[in-house]
Amino acid sequence: MEKLVIKGPTPLKGEVTINGAKNAAVAILPATLLINGSCTIENLPNISDIKISCEILEKLGAKIKWNTKNSITIDTSNLSTTTAPLDLTSKFRASYYVIGAMLGRKGEIEVGMPGGCKLGARPIDQHIKGFESLGATITTEKGTIYAKAQKLTGAPIYMDVVSVGATINVMLASVLAEGTTVIDNAAKEPHIVDVANFLNTMGADIRGAGTDVIKINGVKKLNGNATYSVVPDQIEAGTFMLAAVATKGDIVIKNCITKHLESITAKIIEVGGNVEDNIDSIHVWCDKRPHKATIKTLPYPGFPTDLQPQMGVVLSLANGNSIIHESIWDSRFQYTEELNKMGAKITAQGKTAFFEGVKKLTGSPVYSSDLRAGAALVIAGISADGITEVYNLEHIDRGYENIEEKFRKLGANIKRINE
Ligand code: EPU
Repeated sequence: MEKLVIKGPTPLKGEVTINGAKNAAVAILPATLLINGSCTIENLPNISDIKISCEILEKLGAKIKWNTKNSITIDTSNLSTTTAPLDLTSKFRASYYVIGAMLGRKGEIEVGMPGGCKLGARPIDQHIKGFESLGATITTEKGTIYAKAQKLTGAPIYMDVVSVGATINVMLASVLAEGTTVIDNAAKEPHIVDVANFLNTMGADIRGAGTDVIKINGVKKLNGNATYSVVPDQIEAGTFMLAAVATKGDIVIKNCITKHLESITAKIIEVGGNVEDNIDSIHVWCDKRPHKATIKTLPYPGFPTDLQPQMGVVLSLANGNSIIHESIWDSRFQYTEELNKMGAKITAQGKTAFFEGVKKLTGSPVYSSDLRAGAALVIAGISADGITEVYNLEHIDRGYENIEEKFRKLGANIKRINE
């Protein structure tokens, strides 16, 4: 079993470069299934979710060539099956994008129920509603989803909840449909815009991505023969910004889009940290104990749920009592029990957690319950006195490329050990 062993406290100092966005890349890869040809994707994060995505595409008949560890050329001209490997698709969440893409390309797909981080109920009713509005039939049986369509026809679709996954999936299914699809109450996250930009580069006609109404005029085919670079990861950048505050450090975060980080910047300033915005890099530093704050997670442009646990570390060390209300997921406070083992004083009740700020955390063995919880525990370990051992690294490796290497370059005493 692997673990990260961290000796703290260390104020992080230096520069870190952000990789491409996981949640854009895991949608762009299946989106290539819509292309009858090949394309090159650059700035892919080298993480386990991307490797599994590539394996799924290869099992469907795609040919993938790795140009570097962050770039692939993928040829989806000849797909050989409409059955996605059930064992792989049930391993992670974004495998559901294969449904939208294969409905568009082949009118048919059989796929395992998506897995992913356990954050509470993760229904896909809005995805299904969207596919059905376009003319598909969706049935589920014993953990398998069967999707079929004789023909997809554009339609108006109102999303009952703001959903990243449903917005992207319906966008994928409607790119090659006949006529116009309008998605109302669409999600606006930077990765939605990135997937739309990718598809438009390949020949799609999508307008309005980044607003809550997206219009997709169906086209006859996507051409490929283009190179696309994935947008920088908003959440990875935010993770290092919050690490700078929690460790009372001073970090320049390079290759990020600071516009995507405004809600995080606002909260860092509110708790007493400093932020200098240089458009494609951001400088964050903090030389005192953070102030208390109230946080509510919201869809973009609100404070992202995927940075809630990392913000929880900052607030556990704040001067005063803070509150976090998690409005996206039912069960995203499992990390608070681990922080309490390190001396934090957090009481989580349902979707709200109360933080009684403490002066310091103390090292302890801790277990990550999901990807962002894992990142939060690493930050906690770097800011804590003594030795922290972080277990369940498979969660962290799903979404962060070389996390320990990046923190080590910022001065952290952190190493990966295989027990
Ligand atoms: N929802 C429904 N019905 C649906 C879809 C969603 O009720 O059909 C609800 C969910 O239960 C949730 C809310 O809508 O309460 C938002 O869910 P959304 O569909 O936006 O989440 P997702 O697409 O499954 C993506 C990210 C998550 C991130 C959320 C919210 C990917 C692969 N995952 O999940 O990322 O937390 O959006 O921003 O893009 C992570 O990276 O650690 C992570 C969990």
